[in-house]
Amino acid sequence: MGEMLERLAAGDVRALARAVSMVEDGAEGAAELIAACRRLGRKARKIGITGPPGAGKSTLVDQLVAKLRASGETVGVIAVDPSSPYTGGALLGDRVRMRGFAGDSGVFVRSMASRGALGGLAKSAAGVCTLMEAAGLGTVIIETVGVGQDEVGIAALADVTILVLVPGLGDDVQSLKAGVMEIADIFVVNKSDLPGADRVETEILAMQGLGAHDEHWLPPVVRTVASSGEGVAALLAAVDRCLAAPKRRNAEILRFAQNDLGDGLRLDHLGIAVKSIAAAKGFYELLGMSVSHEETVEHEQVKTAMLPMGDSRIELLEPTAEDSTIGRFLAKRGEGLHHVAVRVDGIDARFAAMQAAGIRLASDQVRVGVGGHRYFFVHPASTGGVLLELVGE
Ligand code: CO
Repeated sequence: MGEMLERLAAGDVRALARAVSMVEDGAEGAAELIAACRRLGRKARKIGITGPPGAGKSTLVDQLVAKLRASGETVGVIAVDPSSPYTGGALLGDRVRMRGFAGDSGVFVRSMASRGALGGLAKSAAGVCTLMEAAGLGTVIIETVGVGQDEVGIAALADVTILVLVPGLGDDVQSLKAGVMEIADIFVVNKSDLPGADRVETEILAMQGLGAHDEHWLPPVVRTVASSGEGVAALLAAVDRCLAAPKRRNAEILRFAQNDLGDGLRLDHLGIAVKSIAAAKGFYELLGMSVSHEETVEHEQVKTAMLPMGDSRIELLEPTAEDSTIGRFLAKRGEGLHHVAVRVDGIDARFAAMQAAGIRLASDQVRVGVGGHRYFFVHPASTGGVLLELVGE
């Protein structure tokens, strides 16, 4: 992996192509590779492009790539399209429409199929994006079809999100899925030489009038004719203006980013040490919670009961021996909050990185705990006084 990272960081497109395949396939070591790439700290300008099928997004992307290349910028394109004919083990430079860039090592194109559970695609795209940034590409364009939850994830990933609309698709602005209008930082009316372009623009402006305004950024409407390149320079100028404006992030994008892209970071559970689970759970049941899972973790000499609470849980911990971690905690401190558990991706990489960084860990290795989840503890000395458990798959 060290060699791959080295070649990737040097901008080797073959290493990048192989790394992307690893991430897409969820291959062993992919999470570690992404973590290592992230540590390089390289950032690209990330542009998300979404809109209904037939809006001319692909042609627009081609024009943007051409314009950026003309100014000497290196570009990565992640084309996410569940209906794309170019899916399934897509290779470097596989897209016919990109043939114009096939011999250009400054452009890296990757098609991705929709796959996995909710947010799976966005997560996978986020990983590929990190690889492209590590390879030193200056701009990464993420193209999606406007089909649902995925573009919210893509919007969370991108610095600027462009929503492409066209006249005459029988697809009125009002009929767009709820939430899609809200993610746009810039509206594009493409094929604006067609009749009906004025009407699309008017509808966008009317809908904007209804919504809450951001004080720093009112999404502009840019007219383009992607087939001829008209308006593409104006679009790039709007992208730059948007990047320069104070950050605009709506609540749904933030929530998605935190839950599904922020390395899957979220509060997993609160661990509460009790003398008796049977006695303690009564209060939580009164609160409307109930025990979903009880398990004794032999190597920790502790009996646990999980009580779900939204996306997270309360974990009641009862010692099975006095001379156990929880037994000693009870003797010294009495019942109470014992630890806070945060869910992360790439738990092995996290463990290794923290060890390398000299962070004081309270586990000598990543262990298997309740429900088969893997975990390790970080000592309160390194966390501001809280015993922190990191949980992952
Ligand atoms: Co725990």
